[in-house]
Amino acid sequence: MNPPTFKDHIVAPSLLAADFSKIADEVVRAVHSGADWMHLDVMDGHFVDNISFGPAIVKTVDQIDDIFLDTHLMISRPDHYLQRFIDAGSDLVTVHVEADHDVAETLGRIRAAGRLAGLALNPATPLSEVEPFLTQIDLLLCMTVVPGFGGQAFMPEVLEKITAAARIRSANSLAFHIEVDGGIDPSTAPQCYHAGANVMVAGSSTFRAPDMAAAISAIRQG
Ligand code: DX5
Ligand code: ZN
Repeated sequence: MNPPTFKDHIVAPSLLAADFSKIADEVVRAVHSGADWMHLDVMDGHFVDNISFGPAIVKTVDQIDDIFLDTHLMISRPDHYLQRFIDAGSDLVTVHVEADHDVAETLGRIRAAGRLAGLALNPATPLSEVEPFLTQIDLLLCMTVVPGFGGQAFMPEVLEKITAAARIRSANSLAFHIEVDGGIDPSTAPQCYHAGANVMVAGSSTFRAPDMAAAISAIRQG
């Protein structure tokens, strides 16, 4: 199967909303419900005001299933911890432009390791901050909430930034995915697709839905 392009709709349930008392079952449930990617939110209690999990859990998830692992590093020093998340089996590693590192170098290291490189920006960060790196990425993550916690409300003001990013992508014949993360559900996903995003991260609206398969399919449909 060819790898997905930015024209394909991809749904990535966020493990943060899973029942941590049975992580293996939850990963299998997501896979059986039609998840395309598994989104893994790594938080260090410093870059964001929450602590989640580290490379050991990423590795555990990698051993459970061969689903594509989309690791989102909300940590202050992604350059320092990068290799551990690569070794743990991440297929895509996304780092924040606001973190304390040489962004170009970190992105280069991710690709040199044969993984996809993602760059994230917070709702308050202007697109101009990521523009210098757009030729070096496979995915741009536009946060649609202030990162740190699941279950927050979608911020529609980010849509404009997604539209602008998609425009720059097409003007420069680039092909990176645009991912959205935070408050994505069957009602907000269509607005994001319309603006030009194609990867929907969804935590609460998938793992906590009465029917996870139906929720994933509704989000994918847009
Ligand atoms: C937020 C995380 C998200 C979060 C999304 O800091 O990056 O991935 O898990 O959760 P929901 O879908 O519940 O907003
Ligand atoms: Zn995330």
